[in-house]
Amino acid sequence: MDTTDKGFTEKVLKAYSNIEDPRLKFIVALLIKHLHGCVNEMKPTDEEWEFAWDYMRRMAAITGLERNEFLLFGDVIGVSQLIETLNHEEPGQPVGYALVGPFLRANAPFRARGASIASDDTAGVRVRITGRVYDFQNKAPIKGAILDTWQAATNGFYENQDEKQPDYNLRGRFKTDENGTFEVIGLMPTAYPAPTDGPVGELLRGAKRSPYRPAHIHFIVSAPGYETLVTQIFVKGDKRIEDDVVFTASENMIGDFQKEGDHFRLTYDCPLKPGVSKMPKAPIPA
Ligand code: BEZ
Ligand code: FE
Repeated sequence: MDTTDKGFTEKVLKAYSNIEDPRLKFIVALLIKHLHGCVNEMKPTDEEWEFAWDYMRRMAAITGLERNEFLLFGDVIGVSQLIETLNHEEPGQPVGYALVGPFLRANAPFRARGASIASDDTAGVRVRITGRVYDFQNKAPIKGAILDTWQAATNGFYENQDEKQPDYNLRGRFKTDENGTFEVIGLMPTAYPAPTDGPVGELLRGAKRSPYRPAHIHFIVSAPGYETLVTQIFVKGDKRIEDDVVFTASENMIGDFQKEGDHFRLTYDCPLKPGVSKMPKAPIPA
């Protein structure tokens, strides 16, 4: 049988043509069409196909509730950021949409306005971040919006990766006041590498890519009647912005951190577009 002719792909497509859900049917058909096209062009050897399914087994073996190598793979190959951009980005938006990444944890504690997400014994320079959440269309302030923020410690680890940090350290949820404003104390962000001890690390080393993410702090801003903004704030002038391992850092996510005595100050406003409010799935459970 000549599997490279169109007839073979057509036969496989037909075998999956009874899927009832039209969206799922469309997705499966597209996957078959493009994977067959890819294989026809690539002509993998038997050994290469064996490597591929064993690579997937190794990704599965390292994946659990606290870690998802498949998500990380999607991140470093640019797919997660591409989906985020396709779904949310519009020309002229002052703040960019960022991938969620593997380190969002569900149910971060609500903290009072101006509270610190860093425990007192957490090393690092502090930054006071204030800002305003507002309606992108009419510029009106949005009261009661929820800002969920998280960041890595200066040792490069998120709290869930590091036994020495208190539970939910460097994570917190804040509510905006009647003027739509919020105030958070966090750490001046520092760069850290994506986990490289699994198959994704192998890919990055093979590609001679740096595993580093530029210094950043994550924000998810949500309010009823508005599309949820998932973003990250990067530091102006950070040289790593150019080669962010997950292709997220961009011009519309840069914060102008200003030194003020022994700490930094940042003002960062968050525009929300009217739409359906939904929260992204947290890769790390509560
Ligand atoms: C993060 O910023 O938390 C992150 C995103 C993607 C891959 C690794 C880390
Ligand atoms: Fe991060």
